[in-house]
Amino acid sequence: MSVDFYKREVISTEDGSTSLKLRDADEQYHSLHGALNESLHIYINSGLHYLAKNREIRIFEAGFGTGLNAILTYMDSSFTCPVIYDSVESYPLEYEEIKKLNFNEIIKGFPSDVFEMMHHAESGIPSRISPNFVFTRFLQPLEVLKLPFSNYDLVYFDMFNPDLQPELWTEEIFTKLFSAMKTGGVLITYCAKGRVKRALKSVGFQVESLPGPAGKREITRALK
Ligand SMILES: C[S@@+](CC[C@H](N)C(=O)[O-])C[C@H]1O[C@@H](n2cnc3c(N)ncnc32)[C@H](O)[C@@H]1O
Repeated sequence: MSVDFYKREVISTEDGSTSLKLRDADEQYHSLHGALNESLHIYINSGLHYLAKNREIRIFEAGFGTGLNAILTYMDSSFTCPVIYDSVESYPLEYEEIKKLNFNEIIKGFPSDVFEMMHHAESGIPSRISPNFVFTRFLQPLEVLKLPFSNYDLVYFDMFNPDLQPELWTEEIFTKLFSAMKTGGVLITYCAKGRVKRALKSVGFQVESLPGPAGKREITRALK
């Protein structure tokens, strides 16, 4: 069955935060056990905080989606480190969907203006949102996006699961990311499937498994 990635609905997850669900597939943008907890545990705590040491961090996010990872990184950047944040998305949210997300109600100090700005950013145009945060969103498929060589310190690999989109979890895609990352850079993902870890290893990453957030045993961190 072919999946229409624009057919989706806003759902509630167990920690009270909203997410989106695809209508044509059994697939959500985040864990049903908690979108906010998942994002904080995987991308902020096991990714950003693992690397951030008072220096500028260049991040590439595969799958901007609701913008939750991006806005949490923005909020964190004001007291951890300067961040250059690039993100790719090929099925951006509609205005009505963005309005239904409740992050502003459950995240203290949530910057709604910045969140809206991120969702309306013109493709490929960098915006300096704060002294510590430069944001660019590319509205095109990851497969065709050209990435700079040896540029990123951290990759948030947050695509839909490999059973739904196997073409995005391939050695070809991981080679492209590997080459776009600096030596010592880190790729972090919620996915702990054996075949994904094998593909990461085969392109040269050192791969480790870490404890996952609520409802998930393991996640994967890969070091270049
Ligand atoms: C798991 S969701 C990302 C969740 C997101 N990081 C967040 O914080 O809400 C996966 C995202 O990848 C996007 N996507 C799917 N196929 C893509 C492709 N080929 N290139 C770029 N983005 C894609 C989807 O539209 C969706 O927004």
